[in-house]
Amino acid sequence: MFVSNNLAVNEKGHLTFGGLDTVDLAVQYGTPLYLIDEDMVRDHCRQYKQSIEEYYDGKGLVCYASKALSCKEIYRIMKSEGCGVDTVSIGEIYTSLSAGFPARDMVFHGNNKTEEALSFALEHGVGRIVVDNLTELKKLNRLAGEAGKKPTILLRVKPGVDAHTHSFIRTGQIDSKFGFAIETGEALEAAVEAAKMEHINLVGAHCHIGSQIFDIDPFKLAAEVMLGYMKDVHEKTGVVLTELNLGGGFGIKYTEEDAPVPYADYMKQISDVVKQKAAEYGLPVPFILIEPGRSIVGPAGITVYTVGTRKEIPNIRNYVSVDGGMCDNPRYALYQSKYDAVLANKADQPKDDVVTIAGECCESGDLLGENVPLQHAESGDILAVLATGAYNYSMSSNYNRNMKPAIVAVSQGESRVIVKRETLDDLIRNDI
Ligand code: LLP
Repeated sequence: MFVSNNLAVNEKGHLTFGGLDTVDLAVQYGTPLYLIDEDMVRDHCRQYKQSIEEYYDGKGLVCYASKALSCKEIYRIMKSEGCGVDTVSIGEIYTSLSAGFPARDMVFHGNNKTEEALSFALEHGVGRIVVDNLTELKKLNRLAGEAGKKPTILLRVKPGVDAHTHSFIRTGQIDSKFGFAIETGEALEAAVEAAKMEHINLVGAHCHIGSQIFDIDPFKLAAEVMLGYMKDVHEKTGVVLTELNLGGGFGIKYTEEDAPVPYADYMKQISDVVKQKAAEYGLPVPFILIEPGRSIVGPAGITVYTVGTRKEIPNIRNYVSVDGGMCDNPRYALYQSKYDAVLANKADQPKDDVVTIAGECCESGDLLGENVPLQHAESGDILAVLATGAYNYSMSSNYNRNMKPAIVAVSQGESRVIVKRETLDDLIRNDI
């Protein structure tokens, strides 16, 4: 009935999340409110870890892509689950360090890392830096020399795989701002350069072919291409790359239209390809890293709003406006991403209406969805948008000087605030 199995309807007809009444949570913590099911997040981490144990002899690391949801508590959870984390900015590194996350289990990404960020990563001993371009490679070699360090790096490679997803989040093809292209020889050249550098420890290659992908074939193809690249690097430089990072991108269920594959299936099929190709090329089976973001936190989150107004425009559409919108979830405005919604206080009633859910920003494009099936909404109802755990809070903004909602974690029937709701004072904190 619902897109995630932690959602149900209780005897009051209210939507429950992780066993707790969402209407009660809305009253207790206020709206708009992000809810995250910690138990489900942990379960997803374990599924990925288990799949590496089962199909890859444990020779790998699950690095949660924290751009999907970054706050101190999520890094604590990842630490306690024995996961690594993928970071993409000095801000994410800082947040994770502040939460006590060990730097050695961080991977640092980015197509335009600043000197400040690279130096910060070196100073704190970030475990792996994924180098995106030659300018960065040279800069890192210089900074590492100055700091007396020798960072472990992987090269970001474009395997040229089209993952059939939304073009905004497609990164595997040649026309991408990320990484070195294989086709042009650029990727091999980067390995030649890196292998010669005194202050660089080149250990592997990385690729990420896109996001919200349901098909396993593009991942298998990417793995095959990457092993071919590792073979070429070995032949050309003599360097045996011992690590392969295959990125993230595993799809989740936002609506009934989405049919994700079980997370374990990815490793099951990818590991076969990697092992087979390594044997064929006479290379050691590489240590593998994967970077799921959306699939770890996405299905584990919902956002709860209060309905303010209902506006019926005959023969056109019915608007239902809520006390949030593109500020807490810009994904419909950016990508026309579809979500399921339910009236939390009328969850036992049929969805006999079709509405446009609008936010409160001064912007016509501030929508959370169009043609959304919903129970009949009236002012004061509580509306839940489902599967919002990824790329909602992390992409939120203060546009129109709206305050960011709190995040409440639910675990074992208990709830607690993990990110406080912003206040008016927070909004003017940096204003002079
Ligand atoms: N690794 C790298 C290098 C990435 O660039 C990304 C996502 C991931 C891992 C995690 O991918 P995931 O497992 O979450 O699909 N804002 C967009 C998504 C952008 C994804 C960017 N990179 C959205 O809201 O759909």
